Amino acid sequence: PALERWVDEVPRPGVVDPTGEKDGQPYYEIEMTEIEQQLHRDLPPTTVWGYDGQFPGPTIEARQGEPIYVRWQNKLPDEHLLTVDTTIHSDIIPYETPGVRTVTHLHGGNIESESDGKSQAWYTRDFAATGPEFEQKDYHYVNDQPAATLWYHDHALGITRLNVYAGLAGFYLLRSDEEDALELPRDEYEVPLVLQDRSVTDDGSLFYPAAIADEQSGHGDSHPEPSIVPEFYGDTPVVNGKAWPRLSVEPTSYRFRLLNGSNSRYYNLTLLEYDESTGETGSEGPSVVQIGNDGGLLAEPVPVDDRLEIGSGQRADVVVDFSEYAGETLLLHNDAPALYRGNLSSTDDDIVPLHEILLVDVADGSGAVGTADVSDATDAADGSGGSGGSGTTDAEDTANGASEAIETETDGAIEAVPNELARVPEISLEDVDTKRYLTLTADKDEHGRMVHLLGTEDEQSGLAVDDPVTEEPTVGDTELWSFANLTDMSHPMHLHLVHFQLLGRQPLGEYQSTEDEIDLDALESPKAYEQGWNDVITVHPAEVVHILVHFGEYEGVFNDQTGTYMWHCHMVEHEDYDMMRPFAVRPASE
Ligand code: C2O
Ligand code: CU
Repeated sequence: PALERWVDEVPRPGVVDPTGEKDGQPYYEIEMTEIEQQLHRDLPPTTVWGYDGQFPGPTIEARQGEPIYVRWQNKLPDEHLLTVDTTIHSDIIPYETPGVRTVTHLHGGNIESESDGKSQAWYTRDFAATGPEFEQKDYHYVNDQPAATLWYHDHALGITRLNVYAGLAGFYLLRSDEEDALELPRDEYEVPLVLQDRSVTDDGSLFYPAAIADEQSGHGDSHPEPSIVPEFYGDTPVVNGKAWPRLSVEPTSYRFRLLNGSNSRYYNLTLLEYDESTGETGSEGPSVVQIGNDGGLLAEPVPVDDRLEIGSGQRADVVVDFSEYAGETLLLHNDAPALYRGNLSSTDDDIVPLHEILLVDVADGSGAVGTADVSDATDAADGSGGSGGSGTTDAEDTANGASEAIETETDGAIEAVPNELARVPEISLEDVDTKRYLTLTADKDEHGRMVHLLGTEDEQSGLAVDDPVTEEPTVGDTELWSFANLTDMSHPMHLHLVHFQLLGRQPLGEYQSTEDEIDLDALESPKAYEQGWNDVITVHPAEVVHILVHFGEYEGVFNDQTGTYMWHCHMVEHEDYDMMRPFAVRPASE
């Protein structure tokens, strides 16, 4: 249906409380259930799947140094909400098992393998049936990594795309004393926003294709029905569970925890001035300042020049100062086409473009909040110890020495953000013990369908998720993983357990094997949204992306987990079929 835009205020996800204690640590029981939720004022309630009765799931507020336990309870109905393709890995997935298979992964968590929530650790309702890698009901999250925007979502083998699309995802915000001392905008001035795309029918039902449309299959390919689709792009932006929502802000600084929780879609975002009555966009709005990425804060704030690219699974921790925009309306605008190819091409713009994501209404600054002296007014209005939109006065008082506020007149700089945010030790190419050349590739399956794959230097045409492990780092080692994209679209590549640093990217032809020298001067260097610690990195077509991964503790950051984990493309259609591989971190003594 043609839904009226910008009628619902964007909701804030709820925060979940522990249900009790286990071994002296907070213990959460969080149920996955089928619920009805209104996605838009003019739609009947939609049947979705939520955690704790909510879509998106409630936020888990965690603190560094305070481990928690979570039991993710599967209380879903017997039948899947969406159509399941039983041809994917039918040799290792028991499709005849009654109930819906689920498993919850804490994305970005530096966690024990048995609590990782990997694909084959799935279980059905009340743990009636469990997958071959199921180990325990209660997951233990050690929370000893730096403060970061993490999230949790379903990861069940072969149906992750369906479970996530049905609604199984939520935020996990890990905070620390160091981060608190920065006095970044918080409470009502800190807004988690999960960007998703959905298609909804007139009766309010979620639509997800049950088979490949003829025009999608191309070249006279055949395909089974039902069938997985190679990618999914919805026609409606859904932010924190609301379609085409609006966000009301005061003319001050806000911290946004952006998460791309979409199945396949990329976003390439900017804030534009917007005329709500005509729907026309104007010039650039306030600049977006990146303060953190997947794995935590950056060393210093970096203005995002041009647009902020965010692929499926990625997070961007940003601050936006609206103080110059009192009374104005802004649009969070996306120019990434579906079938995203980075800067190489935008010729696919006709495939369900989704330009308008979220309307931002900036209050006119009359009343409690004055534009003339925003930081003082905000402190007064906030009344909670100056935590919201705190200005120079508070920042100068902080004891950690990272307190000088950036000059406001510098383009993109923001008063509420200290110049120094966190210590981010740099991994260098010289530290590398092992180099891996890894391919992103595609093939046809026995039905003539597209199957995306990941390969190695020796197996460039690709391996399946159940082929033996080929990446076996030893804890304490630093590795260079070079992703070579042999396909014609961009892929957001994700590693569980670790956070890595982007060394740089270069054209495919310039680096074809681990024997090749890397010319650091020839590499395209990281953008603001690629600096610091990442757990997802985009690899554009015809490009090699080099990342530096340290397995284990690194200069006091992260910890020494060992065991099996997964690495995969985070477009969940690709992850399901079949761009996912295991890796195993071996103990140092082996
Ligand atoms: Cu966000 Cu393996 O996943
Ligand atoms: Cu992919």
